[in-house]
Amino acid sequence: MFTARSAFSTIGRRAFSVSAQQNSKVTVLGAAGGIGQPLSLLLKLNTRVSDLALYDIRGAPGVAADISHVNTASKVTGYDPAPEKLKAALEGADIVLIPAGVPRKPGMSRGDLFKTNASIVRDLAKAAAQHAPNAKLLIISNPVNSTVPICAEVFKSKRVYNPKRLFGVTTLDVVRASKFISEVKGTDPANEEVIVVGGHSGVTIVPLLSQSNHPSIDGAVRDALVKRIQFGGDEVVAAKSGAGSATLSMAFAGSRMADSLLRASQGETGIFEPAFVESPLYKEDGCDFFSSKIELGPEGVKEIHPVGKVSPYEEGLIEIALKDLAEDIKKGQEFVKSNP
Ligand SMILES: NC(=O)c1ccc[n+]([C@@H]2O[C@H](COP(=O)([O-])OP(=O)(O)OC[C@H]3O[C@@H](n4cnc5c(N)ncnc54)[C@H](O)[C@@H]3O)[C@@H](O)[C@H]2O)c1
Repeated sequence: MFTARSAFSTIGRRAFSVSAQQNSKVTVLGAAGGIGQPLSLLLKLNTRVSDLALYDIRGAPGVAADISHVNTASKVTGYDPAPEKLKAALEGADIVLIPAGVPRKPGMSRGDLFKTNASIVRDLAKAAAQHAPNAKLLIISNPVNSTVPICAEVFKSKRVYNPKRLFGVTTLDVVRASKFISEVKGTDPANEEVIVVGGHSGVTIVPLLSQSNHPSIDGAVRDALVKRIQFGGDEVVAAKSGAGSATLSMAFAGSRMADSLLRASQGETGIFEPAFVESPLYKEDGCDFFSSKIELGPEGVKEIHPVGKVSPYEEGLIEIALKDLAEDIKKGQEFVKSNP
């Protein structure tokens, strides 16, 4: 029966979702880079974003002026590199995405970026902890396996750490997995979903094909597909011949993750995205962080799903992944302890 009470609650829900929609501030740190620019453009197209704050050590006001002419309702502001501008960019943010740092060149692993990116991410995390402690923080800068633990340590040191709100963005691995499996099977990638667990670097990326629509993929085809998902980023790095790594597909993936979080924070349910978060699943193996299927809610992480039933082959992949992952995580944690 359609009662006054149910009518009221429907209107109430609508009112909630509209006002939430009008009040979502999203900040991009590193907004003028290869990822930052297309990511900011995609966020400008997202009607759930009302206020888009773009910060970079160079060029953010220009990117903001350009994007601000796109005729969607949101307000775009670019910020020059100064502490008070970074503060203004961060204050009131619901989501902060960090693609700041240097990308890979051919022959480099994501771990090779640690030296440069660790301190960039640490310093931006300090600013986020101070000016936007309640925002959901989405880390794109590599090596994600180490930069996420760096952010956690910084937030802990400032006593504002909430593991529900810190995410390493592994969405690109999931996007690639569904695209690559569709190429093997001749299907529409929109209908393919592959859970990818572990971390975000080489062998730490573990696609669970046994849980996909094609669990029977086996032998050399399976091995080649898994390798392509794990090292898909290298295809782009090689094709760009030194000009950087994946930027456009990464922007797509980052904007999808931000949109999923915005939808969840506006009350939508049943939203799942794998992401690299603090997780109980493999803590005993030295991995305080692990990517698995995550249900998102208004607070960020709503529920961390276990890896579930995997094949013996995948069990082997997870075992290999855990070893590298534990080292990468420790490296990030120790970096902050010795370089606070
Ligand atoms: N998570 C993923 O799946 C994924 C995928 C691809 C690339 N990445 C990583 O994303 C990062 C960015 O890649 P890109 O191709 O956009 O690089 P880029 O060099 O094109 O852009 C990086 C931007 O960060 C800015 N920057 C540097 N230090 C900064 C600071 N302290 N504060 C604010 N901005 C700062 C630079 O000025 C530049 O505009 C790299 O670390 C790359 O490895 C991650």
